[in-house]
Amino acid sequence: MAKNDKKEAAEPNKLAMIILAAGKGTRMKSPLPKVLHPVAGRPMIEKVIQASKKAGATDLRVIVGHGQALVRSVVEPMGVSCFVQENQLGTADAVKAAQVETIEGDVVIMNGDHPLIEAEDIKKFITLFREEKCDLAVVTAVVKKPGEFGRIVRHKGDLKAIVEAKDASADTLKIREINTGIYIAKAETLAEYLPQIKNHNAKKEFYVTDLISLCIEDDCKVMAIKASPKVAVGVNNQQELAHATKLLFKRKALRLMEDGVLMIDPASTYVEESVEVGAGSVLFPNTFLRGSTKVGSFTVIEPHVFMSDSEIGDSVQVRAGSYLEQAIVHSRASVGPYARLRPQTTIGEEAHVGNFVEMKKVKFGKKSKAGHLTYLGDAEIGEDVNIGCGTITCNYAADKKKYQTKIGNRVFVGSDTQFVAPIEIGDDVVIGSGSTITKNVPAKALAVARGKQVIKENYTPKAPAQPKSEE
Ligand code: UD1
Ligand code: MG
Repeated sequence: MAKNDKKEAAEPNKLAMIILAAGKGTRMKSPLPKVLHPVAGRPMIEKVIQASKKAGATDLRVIVGHGQALVRSVVEPMGVSCFVQENQLGTADAVKAAQVETIEGDVVIMNGDHPLIEAEDIKKFITLFREEKCDLAVVTAVVKKPGEFGRIVRHKGDLKAIVEAKDASADTLKIREINTGIYIAKAETLAEYLPQIKNHNAKKEFYVTDLISLCIEDDCKVMAIKASPKVAVGVNNQQELAHATKLLFKRKALRLMEDGVLMIDPASTYVEESVEVGAGSVLFPNTFLRGSTKVGSFTVIEPHVFMSDSEIGDSVQVRAGSYLEQAIVHSRASVGPYARLRPQTTIGEEAHVGNFVEMKKVKFGKKSKAGHLTYLGDAEIGEDVNIGCGTITCNYAADKKKYQTKIGNRVFVGSDTQFVAPIEIGDDVVIGSGSTITKNVPAKALAVARGKQVIKENYTPKAPAQPKSEE
C-alpha cells in the first residue's frame, strides 16, 4: 500500500458505499439484469451510483453477479469497483462479497433497485447516524401499501427486528412501516455480525436485514431513521418500473417549473434528469428531451418533439413532430414542423429549417433557409442562402464513400436541384430550378443544368379517322 493510501485509510468518517446489484430480478420477467432496466431513460443503477457519489462516497463498491458482464459495462465507466457474488444466496451474502473487512469508517448499504434516491437524502441519513453515534441504522418509511417490503417490528416503540413479508405473520403484515433497503453501519459492526447471519427463513437466503436483531440483542446502538415514502420506491417488477419512471419525470417537471419553465401538461412532458431548460421556455405535451440536451430561454418546443444530446439556443422554435439528435440550433432559428436533424448538424442564428427537411453533418449558416422537402448531408452552407424545395445533396456515391457539398454565402438555389458531391458553389451564385449540378460554380455565376424546353407548335395529333361501319 502506498504511503498516501495508508494515510487516507486512517481518516475517521471515511465514507464507503456498497450497492447491491447481483440479483437476478426474477419478478421483472425480463432477460435484462434488473438494475439495468431504464428509469426515465437511464439504467436504474446509474441513478443510485450518481446519488452515492454526490453524497460524498469515496469508496464505491458494486456487488455484481447475475448478468455481470453487462452490469460491469455500465457501472465500471462510472469509476466504481465491482465485487462478484458468485451465487445469489441473499442480500447478506451480497454485502459479504464487498470484503467489508477491507473497509474503514462508515458504510452505507443500498439496494441497486431504488432509483429515486437522491444525494441529499443519503447525506441526511449519514448526518443522523453520526450525530447519534450509532453502530447500525436502517432507513424506514411508512407507506400505504407495504406489499412485499420487509416490516419494521417494534416493541413499545423500540426497534426490534425486520421481518420479511414472506416470513411474516398476518399481524406483522399489517405493519406499514417498512425497510427501504438502506442501511448505515460502522465497518467493524458489519465485519463482526455479517458472519453470524443464518439462512433460517422461507427463502433459505442470508438476509442482511437480520443484522438489526443481531445487533440489538448484543446491545449495539441501532437506530431506525424515518424517511419520506419516495425513498421506498423500489423496482421489483415491470409495473413498479413504469411507476418509478413516471415519478422521476414528474419530479423533473416540477423542478423545471420551479425554475420558470412553462408546461402545458407536465404529466405528459418527458424530460430526463440530465437535461437543462432555460426560464421562459415552453414545453408542449409529448416532448421527449434526453441525455445532455440543453435548451435556452424563451424557446418553444412544440408537441411530439424528440430531442437527444442537442443544444438549442434562446428564442428558438422547434415545431411539432421534429426529431433532433446531437444537433445544435442557434438562437432565433426555427426548425420544423416535421424536420429531422441528425448528428453533427449546426443550424445558424435566425436560420429556418422547414417541414420534411433532413440534415446530417451539415453546417447551415446564419439566416439561411431550407423551407421544404429537402435532404442535405455532408454539407457546409453559408449565410443567407435560400435552398429551394426538393433540393438534394447527392453525398453518397457508388464507391460507397461520402462526399462534401460546399455552398457559399447568399446563394439562391432553385427548387428541385441536385448537387452531385464533391462540389463547391461560390458566393452569390444563382442555380436554376431543376438543375443537376455536377461541376463547381464560381462566385456570382448563374448555373443551369437541365434539359432545354422544346416547343413544337400545333403538335396535338389529329384524331384518327373512324372506320366506316358496314351496313
Ligand atoms: C429487500 C429487503 C426488504 C426491503 C426491500 C426494499 C432483504 C432480505 N429484504 O427485499 O426488507 O423492504 O429490499 O426494497 O434484504 N441482491 C444481490 N444478491 C442477492 C440478492 C439480492 O445482490 O443474492 C440485490 C438485488 O440485485 C437488489 C437488492 O439486492 O438490488 C435487493 O434484492 P431484492 O431481491 O430486490 O430484495 P427485496 O425482495 O426487494
Ligand atoms: Mg427489491
